[in-house]
Amino acid sequence: MNDLQGKKILIGVTGGIAAYKAVEVVSRLKKSGAEVKVVMTRAATEFVTPRTFQEISKNPVSVEMFSETFNYNVEHIALANWADVVLIAPATANFLAKAAHGIADDLLTTIILATPAPLIIAPAMNSLMLEHPATQSNIEILKQRGAKFIDSETGLLACGVTGKGRLAEPINICEEIEKFFTSKILAGKKILVTAGGTSEPLDPVRFISNRSSGKMGYEIAKAAQMHGAEVILISGNATVEPPKVSKFVKVETAEQMREKVLDEFETVDAVIMSAAVSDYRVKSVSPQKIKKDEDNLTIELVKNPDILKELGRIRKDQILVGFAAETVNVIHYAKNKIAEKNLDFIVANNVTKEGAGFSVDTNIVTIIDREDEIENLPKMSKAEVAEKIILRVAERL
Ligand code: CTP
Repeated sequence: MNDLQGKKILIGVTGGIAAYKAVEVVSRLKKSGAEVKVVMTRAATEFVTPRTFQEISKNPVSVEMFSETFNYNVEHIALANWADVVLIAPATANFLAKAAHGIADDLLTTIILATPAPLIIAPAMNSLMLEHPATQSNIEILKQRGAKFIDSETGLLACGVTGKGRLAEPINICEEIEKFFTSKILAGKKILVTAGGTSEPLDPVRFISNRSSGKMGYEIAKAAQMHGAEVILISGNATVEPPKVSKFVKVETAEQMREKVLDEFETVDAVIMSAAVSDYRVKSVSPQKIKKDEDNLTIELVKNPDILKELGRIRKDQILVGFAAETVNVIHYAKNKIAEKNLDFIVANNVTKEGAGFSVDTNIVTIIDREDEIENLPKMSKAEVAEKIILRVAERL
């Protein structure tokens, strides 16, 4: 079972007797291929030692907000950004109260405030505490904010009474996590993705193009399809095989790409323009092969239409996502492009950084949205970047 291959799961363990069951949750998630990091509250360490989680997760376990041996520069922010999903198991009544009201008095509750990742909570406590109106209202607040709950089960509780409040079985918790990652959050949505590099002919045998491999766009199309969307992939040149999508359209030039994109635009819910569109084309394409008669050859280029800018002008309620491949002043240029092209968000990268940009399988991107929020992502695989982008699109839809 490798259903969770490469998924990054942060598990918050709070202080209840059921903390020991979280050990099995970590072990099962690891076996499914996930990367797991554990953050414990101080109370949780009364039940299970950090070392146990460290051995099982094969990662350092964090407890203290201000520990001497920081694993990261600003640990709570690094962990908050690292996670694809945050699971709290077991979640005590105290944790629910703090999370519902934004109290951040330890590492775990601080991460909860700082993370853009979805939150999944598996409560465990005495049944009277669970049924208490205060706890129920805290659960309601968290649900309204988008947290997903894995209901506790009924049975004999540690306090000796029988009732609701037992932590869900580890196997059920892991199933919910798998469901979360394979959930069809884009079901019924139509997403247009452009990928690869356009090429502009000079003559019947030559063209001008760029170094785009198509990998980033293909991963985005794949992720959108996996999440249940109907995906139209319009692609220029690429060095890899296209993924299986609802509709695949191959184009060469920027003008062809524009035409195909405009054909689909009215009926789609979102457009992700990851294609490297040639900014210029040859003014007059030679009908015959250009001979090497001259010592110097000057070719006049004219500007291509800016497809994304045009979409930004005519958009109705479609979500628009752009890319900004830069070599300097990344954030500044990317922000300008959001305004200029009327985008919801932009995925910017410095293509000169090692491990970012064209051809490689990884990318280092910053996502900036129209509300000016900036998320710096560490170096990750293009598949992981694609997942982040798709989850954001789903959120906006
Ligand atoms: N784009 C487009 N049509 C073009 C050029 C770019 O739709 N003719 C899209 C790209 O797919 C990308 C975004 O616009 O999503 C930004 O492209 P980029 O080339 O980085 O920026 P430009 O706007 O072309 O500006 P510059 O080249 O000056 O940086």
